[in-house]
Amino acid sequence: MTTQGTRPATQTPGLMFPTGFVWGAATSAYQVEGSISADGRGTSIWDTFCRQDGRIVGGDNAEVSIDHYNRYAEDVRLMADLGLTAYRFSVSWPRIQPDGSGAYNAKGLDFYKRLVDELLSYGIDPWLTLYHWDLPQALEDAGGWPVRDTSKRFADFAATVHAELGDRVRNWSTVNEPWCSAFVGYASGEHAPGRREPAAAIRAAHHLNLAHGLAVQAMRAQHADSRIGGCVNLYAITPATGSEEDADAARRIDGLQNRFFLDALLKGAYPEDVLKDLGAVTDPGFIADGDLGVIAAPLDMLLINYYSRFTVSGVPGGARSAAAAPTDSGSPWVGSEHVGFVNGGRPVTAMGWEIDGAGLREVLDRLVAEYPRLPLYISENGAAFDDVVAGDGTIHDPERAAYIDAHLRVCHEAVEAGIPLNGYFAWSLMDNFEWAWGYGKRFGLVYVDYETQIRTMKSSALWYADVIRHGGLPG
Ligand code: NOJ
Repeated sequence: MTTQGTRPATQTPGLMFPTGFVWGAATSAYQVEGSISADGRGTSIWDTFCRQDGRIVGGDNAEVSIDHYNRYAEDVRLMADLGLTAYRFSVSWPRIQPDGSGAYNAKGLDFYKRLVDELLSYGIDPWLTLYHWDLPQALEDAGGWPVRDTSKRFADFAATVHAELGDRVRNWSTVNEPWCSAFVGYASGEHAPGRREPAAAIRAAHHLNLAHGLAVQAMRAQHADSRIGGCVNLYAITPATGSEEDADAARRIDGLQNRFFLDALLKGAYPEDVLKDLGAVTDPGFIADGDLGVIAAPLDMLLINYYSRFTVSGVPGGARSAAAAPTDSGSPWVGSEHVGFVNGGRPVTAMGWEIDGAGLREVLDRLVAEYPRLPLYISENGAAFDDVVAGDGTIHDPERAAYIDAHLRVCHEAVEAGIPLNGYFAWSLMDNFEWAWGYGKRFGLVYVDYETQIRTMKSSALWYADVIRHGGLPG
């Protein structure tokens, strides 16, 4: 490990966070582990997808990625150097259960036991995500998320992982960003499995929600002291103008992106207007009686991934300011393909995503106003920028620190205003495989040289370490 660069002068914090506020960073299994054939791991939909022409920019794949599978101990030391109090990571389903049903792979589980033990030895709290998009290929071959049985397979998997690791992991979350898995995986086809089947995507969305609920139920029966949450990606959404068309477009996008998941998980009902929009695409008869009761199983916390705002217009066209993949694709906005996305005029990251801290406050305010009160965590927030390695090997990325600073200021205001926000996880700890974008987009606090696998803290990492050490931001 190298930690080149000069640590900035010690700050005198003015905006202190409460004691016990969780200071974290996040990654996911597929994006960092590599070793896709090691120790009995099965094939995932992302392995298959990466092998298809034109799916990933530059033909990149995650066969090696940043070799976290072999370098996890070094990476945990980096986390300790940063002063993280928590690390959010996911387990790879095909590493643990190669075919998604039937036999479990002890060697796969052992990797996560070693990782967790390493974290605990440094006093870093492991936050485990059960599903971050790497479905076993065998389950996709059987129909994937559009098929109801996949939810049951996931609940069995979750129960087993929880039984094996529940003694040492307290904080659990089920499905990371079900919106992405469903609509980017099955409608736009920008993500694995690359299907463009709008009706199937709606089924997938429901079955991902059901998988979440069944998994919560299964885990509740074991290790009573576990804290269990769902993880959704929420956007602030504004209509482009005061017109009725724009207001309706914003309602539709908010419905599919935010309310479809929040209402199901936290209120036990799908929003009527969204069901009506989606009814034009497929009959919702696959939603069985009792499903929503399962989906709304009580939670201990809600994990929120927040990156940006959408400005939405009833007039088609315009660039989608977030989540758009570089490859030719369909629309993830099932039932609302006619809406447009407008440039809101804010500065953007290297993803073209508009930087808007105020949007995070809107999201948090809305959760408090419209949903049952739950402990909240920002489980992802961060930015890709085009990092440059200087001649002396350092990486100066003030834009990334500024992005995180702006959002942490909003978090601080929210906490002061009494919003039950208890922690923040930067995305990402290290540069990694950014899905359809491959390695070209760097989100890390830590720079990874993909040739040598050398990790170097960027100036943003040194800045974040200072914030954590002092428990707050300069005033
Ligand atoms: C959300 C996803 O959970 C994560 O995997 C991804 O890398 C980031 N957003 C950035 O796109």
